[in-house]
Amino acid sequence: MSRATAQAPSNIAFVKYWGARDLKRALPYNPSISMTLANCVSRSTVEVLPDGAPDQVLLGGDSGELSLAPAAFADRVCQHLVTLRAETGTQGGFRVATKNSFPTGAGIASSASGFAALTLAVTAALGLDFSDEELSILARRSGSGSAARSLMGGYVELPTGIVASDGNSETASSEDSLSFSIQLADADHWDLRDVVAIVETGPKEISSLEGHKRSLTSPYYPRRQELLAQRLHVVRQAIAERSFSALGPVLEEEAIDLHLIAMSSRPPVFYWNPATLALLSTVRTLRDEGLPAYSTMDAGANVHVICEPEHEPEIARRLIAVRGVRRIIRDRVGTGPRLDVEPLF
Ligand code: PMV
Repeated sequence: MSRATAQAPSNIAFVKYWGARDLKRALPYNPSISMTLANCVSRSTVEVLPDGAPDQVLLGGDSGELSLAPAAFADRVCQHLVTLRAETGTQGGFRVATKNSFPTGAGIASSASGFAALTLAVTAALGLDFSDEELSILARRSGSGSAARSLMGGYVELPTGIVASDGNSETASSEDSLSFSIQLADADHWDLRDVVAIVETGPKEISSLEGHKRSLTSPYYPRRQELLAQRLHVVRQAIAERSFSALGPVLEEEAIDLHLIAMSSRPPVFYWNPATLALLSTVRTLRDEGLPAYSTMDAGANVHVICEPEHEPEIARRLIAVRGVRRIIRDRVGTGPRLDVEPLF
């Protein structure tokens, strides 16, 4: 039976995907831009089983043991396997094992790296040769928009796929085949670091899928959409010119807006805890002291602090001292997925 193993990284969004035209295929309302990470990765080994065989979903443990995945995790993986079977015209079942480099429950979003690794491993096990763009579309159809961006290294944009045939946004349609990731710059272009302060380790109360759904009920959702064109422009330009002073303020605005929309959704979604606020304040203090550091957050309480390499050690030292911080993960811009990795079985 043919088998393949893939490793794919997580990513941190500079401009966030929040709210979808089609949640099942994660077709976004707005373009998003992220930095691919290097150390926070998922590895997935996939074996093709005979036609009609049931899928098996396993989790890889620290000492190499495999165990059955919890039901909620296995269900989401199986749903994506159904999609991948339909897209590739295969009938076989799959035996899948997944392992994250970061400790399970560390509060790092694993859907981006997990679905990217799974998509790549399935297509490789089937011997199919898809382009990075096609793989990013397949990964997005898992329902995780951020997974589409994890198929490439460096700095990556996921466009909406929205086309206005006559230039009129009222008659715009959303083209699934046009929403694929584009690499804005590779990892060598700009060495940025991500110091992640972990303040929450359990699964979040409200999933990002539910957050996307509720976001459209926030009165601030339309206002953010109006502001985004300018923000996207600034972030693309800042990446092209490696301008940290241009990038930083937009990073923070974006993260605050995402949470403002979450908090003003109906019913509201609160992801922050007291340590989140303490960290945001610490980052502002660091800047007042002349240390360039800017915070961003996903749909959770943990705070990612983006900085340049020379400031990383001092920033990590200051963040670990903040009350409520359980651990620090130091990461950096990474080169993207790989197929030359150790299999899990
Ligand atoms: O890919 P999803 O459905 O988990 O949504 C990602 C949501 C954010 O992490 C908050 C933003 C982003 O663009 O990564």
